Amino acid sequence: AMDRFIADLMVKMTLDEKTGQLTLLTSNWESTGPTMRDSYKEDIRAGRVGAIFNAYTAKYTRELQALAVEGTRLKIPLLFGYDVIHGHRTIFPISLGEAASWDLQAIEKAARISAIEASAEGIHWTFSPMVDIARDPRWGRISEGAGEDVYLGSLIAKARVRGYQGGDLSRPDTILATAKHFAAYGAAQAGRDYHTVDISERTMRDVYLPPFKAAADAGAATFMTAFNEYDGVPASGSHYLLTDVLRKKWGFKGFVVTDYTSINEMVPHGYAKDLKQAGEQAMRAGVDMDMQGAVFMENLAKSVAEGKVDTARIDAAVKAILEMKYRLGLFDDPYRYADAAREKATIYKPAFLEAARDVARKSIVLLKNKDNVLPLAASAKSIAVIGPLGNSKEDMIGSWSAAGDRRTRPVTLLEGLQAGAPKGTTIAYAKGASYHFDDVGKTDGFAEALALAEKSDVIIAAMGEHWNMTGEAASRTSLDLPGNQQALLEALEKTGKPVILVLMSGRPNSIEWADANVDAILEAWYPGTMGGHAIADILYGRYNPSGKLPVTFPRTVGQVPIHYDMKNTGRPIELGAPGAKYVSRYLNTPNTPLYPFGYGLSYTSFTYSPVTLDRSKIRPGEPLTASVTVTNSGPRDGEEVVQLYVRDLVGSVTRPVKELKGFQKIGLKKGETRTVRFTLTDADLAFTRQDMSWGSEPGAFKLWIGPSSAEGSEASFELTE
Ligand code: IFM
Repeated sequence: AMDRFIADLMVKMTLDEKTGQLTLLTSNWESTGPTMRDSYKEDIRAGRVGAIFNAYTAKYTRELQALAVEGTRLKIPLLFGYDVIHGHRTIFPISLGEAASWDLQAIEKAARISAIEASAEGIHWTFSPMVDIARDPRWGRISEGAGEDVYLGSLIAKARVRGYQGGDLSRPDTILATAKHFAAYGAAQAGRDYHTVDISERTMRDVYLPPFKAAADAGAATFMTAFNEYDGVPASGSHYLLTDVLRKKWGFKGFVVTDYTSINEMVPHGYAKDLKQAGEQAMRAGVDMDMQGAVFMENLAKSVAEGKVDTARIDAAVKAILEMKYRLGLFDDPYRYADAAREKATIYKPAFLEAARDVARKSIVLLKNKDNVLPLAASAKSIAVIGPLGNSKEDMIGSWSAAGDRRTRPVTLLEGLQAGAPKGTTIAYAKGASYHFDDVGKTDGFAEALALAEKSDVIIAAMGEHWNMTGEAASRTSLDLPGNQQALLEALEKTGKPVILVLMSGRPNSIEWADANVDAILEAWYPGTMGGHAIADILYGRYNPSGKLPVTFPRTVGQVPIHYDMKNTGRPIELGAPGAKYVSRYLNTPNTPLYPFGYGLSYTSFTYSPVTLDRSKIRPGEPLTASVTVTNSGPRDGEEVVQLYVRDLVGSVTRPVKELKGFQKIGLKKGETRTVRFTLTDADLAFTRQDMSWGSEPGAFKLWIGPSSAEGSEASFELTE
């Protein structure tokens, strides 16, 4: 029925009406890029636009939809897109934070709730998940993805797609997902946003593409092109990416949208001489929808007349877009997502807020806990909350917080502590320092903060970055605490009172001094609407921290890029005596990170048995079972992420020193022991071999199971022919 309906409709469409369907414009509610087209309502009425983004609420989307379905000849409904990245109204932790939960069910649930809220406000389509592998914390958008790892990132990509799309797009509480930014946007040189990407095809295939493949396999309805070039070709003009890989190799059947004006940007990239040529390149490469550039709108008809673009390609693009509108049920009822009563009943539901609190608790990572200073003891009667993030509502929800309220809803750390502290506790706040770059060297707030610290039992230093220092166009050349926070932190430490650093940021910061000097450190990311309660739950031990880092924390920015699955080199540091020359190392900093990928502490402790394998050799297709026994040997119930890594010792091309191939998040009661089993086959050991084919190679492997990428007991096995 769908094919017939769309074929009948397309027969009636003029070329201009078709081009309209390929055009996505922002409404002026907000702008998420450098340009604005004020005539968007006029464009809708004229049938020049098929989709709108940055418009929401039942009322406003209904108003715009009416322009399309009542004002245009063919009454084709608009598609409404929006950046629903980590929640719509109820805001969850930033995506990197969610990834730190290593809890795929929780992540899927967060996406599901986001879709339920967004769809109740007229939104059909989210520009999420961002599945870019990111290994450079200078890049502000590291906050928007799942971190550095291919395996974890791929599973999270799938979970998010499932959450948004809910398995059945015809249900009015599901929305289209977008896998973005295709591809390798996270590899921007020097971490500068939008910068050139120059990586090998092998790295592209082994590292950057798999999470996109996972999203496509999970049925992601749309893909968004990246701003960057790859191998000299801007992604929006890349036939290799959009057609050869995405459509031909992976069988993708949805539609491809560009990023904001990224067709136009092929001109400054130096790839197209003018917008018309850029439009032709994009269309021929496999772009279906032009976000905000109006390049298709203004040039495609001429390109067709000149024979520069094939009408069959345009028809394929129109068809892919109309199919999504059909599958969402918009031809039956263009207003089915714009329902004021549903909107009112849905947003900020208590169950959603509770879920946001739960995901936030799960995302927080305990990085240090000297002498078990946490959870806070009953003797901590007076608490000083100090720092610019201690009582800041706007920062709690991070960047891309969609329709999230930054002013009233978010629960700050101070508020969370006040709400959750035992009776008789005094909690006071002093901002003390500033995170603004220009305030470095200032000391105005220090005296007040230190006076408060002196009369308190415990200091909670809430420090990190302003929310706008991560996300798009928010790259930094330093990972230090910005402003004068470090100076205040050092002064607080001198008081001799216990100092607990609650770090809020969207990237790994270089906190080597803090690691050596403060008593406890929690990475709380930007924890979302309920963030203050979630942090308080951890500080008071109502929740035992279970998060693990989805990204390596370097000691210093000079180690970047640093990730756990690096190559060994021909002169690994272990070949030399300590301090030796002529091995691969720095003169002034160890090679090791401050905190490795997969790392995170708990208030209890877990003891791992040695790994056992059910066999020492496997043939292709044969399963290998690796087991370990984990005991909660500490004082309370807790959860642990048991991680399995492998190393392929010799390959036709060199292989990483470790690769995550499995994990299980398990709950263990105090004293409880459980055997955790993983099954691997040669398919899990596949990579892009020297001849560029995908597959495993026979040979010797090492395997580890442990609590992080830097720990675990080792075993060996062989893959035979
Ligand atoms: O979805 C975003 C993208 O991630 C960056 N540029 C703007 C888009 C739409 O807002």
